[in-house]
Amino acid sequence: MAASGYAPRRTDLPVVISEARVRHLVRRLAAAICADHSEGDTLVIVAVLKAAVVFLADLIRHLTMPLEIELVNARSYSGTRRREAVEILDDVLELELTGRHVLLLDCVLDSGHTLAAVLGAIVAQAPASVKTCVLLRKRRPRTVDIEPEYVGTDIPDVFVVGYGLDCDNRWRHLPFVAELPEAAASGGGEE
Ligand code: IMP
Ligand code: MG
Repeated sequence: MAASGYAPRRTDLPVVISEARVRHLVRRLAAAICADHSEGDTLVIVAVLKAAVVFLADLIRHLTMPLEIELVNARSYSGTRRREAVEILDDVLELELTGRHVLLLDCVLDSGHTLAAVLGAIVAQAPASVKTCVLLRKRRPRTVDIEPEYVGTDIPDVFVVGYGLDCDNRWRHLPFVAELPEAAASGGGEE
């Protein structure tokens, strides 16, 4: 039970991407990734924790090439407010990516700071190739120069939860993507 504010139930939240649409987008992205990568080359997927875990789990089950998975811990939001600095909590440089084919994966591209920071650390290791994939890309101006090769769909510039995305570590388990109104962020949520 929330202490104060508006505490929505999952059914109160305005759906931005339905469960069926998410499924369709994931399959389409997987098909594009398979088409671009040789069946003979191992692909190293570097997924950004925690938001990418649900997307990662669904996507990899549609990929047909040999795969390795690495998880990178990065954090740039506190509640619905973006922090200035992106924390890369695990050292990407500890990964062995030199000469490897790498796919950087995140659930959402917002300001682009997170992906740009992780991508920079990957590129510094001289991989054989590196591409970036996001399920959602917010329609907003970006000062960071990052254009993912694979984008599921564009969404409005609103704060969303579900399908791995959280507000203070809540709502990640929703099977759809929903908008979280600002008033709900302080009030928690009832499910
Ligand atoms: P960026 O660095 O601003 O592109 O933010 C990317 C990271 O912030 C993602 O990895 C998400 O974890 C988080 N994020 C961005 N937008 C949202 C949102 O609308 N809801 C929840 N998390 C978000
Ligand atoms: Mg978050």
